Amino acid sequence: MKGTYILAIESSCDETAAAVVKDGRQVISNIISSQIDLHTKYGGVVPELASRKHIEKINPVITEALVGAGMTIQDVDAVAVTCGPGLVGSLLVGVGAAKAVAFAAGKPLIGVHHIEGHVAANYICHPDLEPPFLCLIVSGGHTHIVVVEDYGTYRIIGRTHDDAAGEAFDKIARAIGLGYPGGPKLDKLAKQGDPTAVPFPRAHIDGCPYDFSFSGLKSAVLNYLNIEKMKSKAGSVQRFGVPTGGEAEGTEACPEVFSDGITRADLAASFQSAVVDVLVSRTVAAANALGMDRIAIAGGVACNSALRAAMLTLGEENGKKVYYPDPILCTDNAAMIGSAAYYEFLSGHTADWTLNAVPNLKLGEKI
Ligand code: KG4
Ligand code: ZN
Repeated sequence: MKGTYILAIESSCDETAAAVVKDGRQVISNIISSQIDLHTKYGGVVPELASRKHIEKINPVITEALVGAGMTIQDVDAVAVTCGPGLVGSLLVGVGAAKAVAFAAGKPLIGVHHIEGHVAANYICHPDLEPPFLCLIVSGGHTHIVVVEDYGTYRIIGRTHDDAAGEAFDKIARAIGLGYPGGPKLDKLAKQGDPTAVPFPRAHIDGCPYDFSFSGLKSAVLNYLNIEKMKSKAGSVQRFGVPTGGEAEGTEACPEVFSDGITRADLAASFQSAVVDVLVSRTVAAANALGMDRIAIAGGVACNSALRAAMLTLGEENGKKVYYPDPILCTDNAAMIGSAAYYEFLSGHTADWTLNAVPNLKLGEKI
């Protein structure tokens, strides 16, 4: 078989995934076993349950990826795995499985940074995209603007000072009664709302023009809800009701319409618009300041419909070409890990059998 084939494994959070990727750009198979159903009733990912589920799924998922590619382990050139950042118990399952498979088959092992994988999802969807370019990375744990100087070489231009964008989406989704997984549900609800209904704050950080802070915005939404709760208690209309017990843990009861006539969808749209505004304006401003004409978005929040649309519009107005991956490659998957691993493999960065899970691995830190 001509080309370089990598079997990649991803288990850093709540998806058990394996894929076979050819030459870093072509997905031959891509298997994702999601744990959403398992964690929904708890309102978020329960690390211990996630690790146990990974143990149950990892071997069948790897087998399915190889069978789906019409290959055996002997046909692949290397085995890659996410080794950080992420939940340590979850990461360990993938790392242990990858080491066992690679050792038994006599194949090289490659450790991949999860966020580098998210960036690389763009290489799969856009064959023309090569470094250098600017990338907005927005996931459940990261919010960064980086210059991708070369494959595997990043310069951080901006970062969040508190919550990651995905974390903010998940917290507000829970506060308005949507539960887990929050981001996609809030995105859907926001489509029916007016993004200008509530003028939520857009935080600027003095001296750091490309950094973010979402804690003030989060407090503003929670304050709005608390004031409405107090009005509901004091008045004759009990808008908030009481939780029925059927909701996921931590999910609040929330009315469809508030006392001022603003709907829950308006609130979702106004919050989303505040997040998207700062993400897009700062990324495009950074691209202009650095003279970069290509902008990519990566990570789970890159699925967000408002973010994709706004980046495309403002990017094009500023003469930028905007890239984002297909939604299935934005959220956690192993194909993106196979793509990032290919470029590590080309530059000779393979791991030895001491490869371990590093839950707080920094971007660009070599494994
Ligand atoms: O990249 P990812 O799958 O996992 C991490 O590496 O963290 O990102 C998950 C995050 C979650 O916070 C989820 O709510 C958010 O991405 N997300 C979204 C959307 N889809 C996923 N946030 C906003 N809108 C979406 N459509
Ligand atoms: Zn991720």
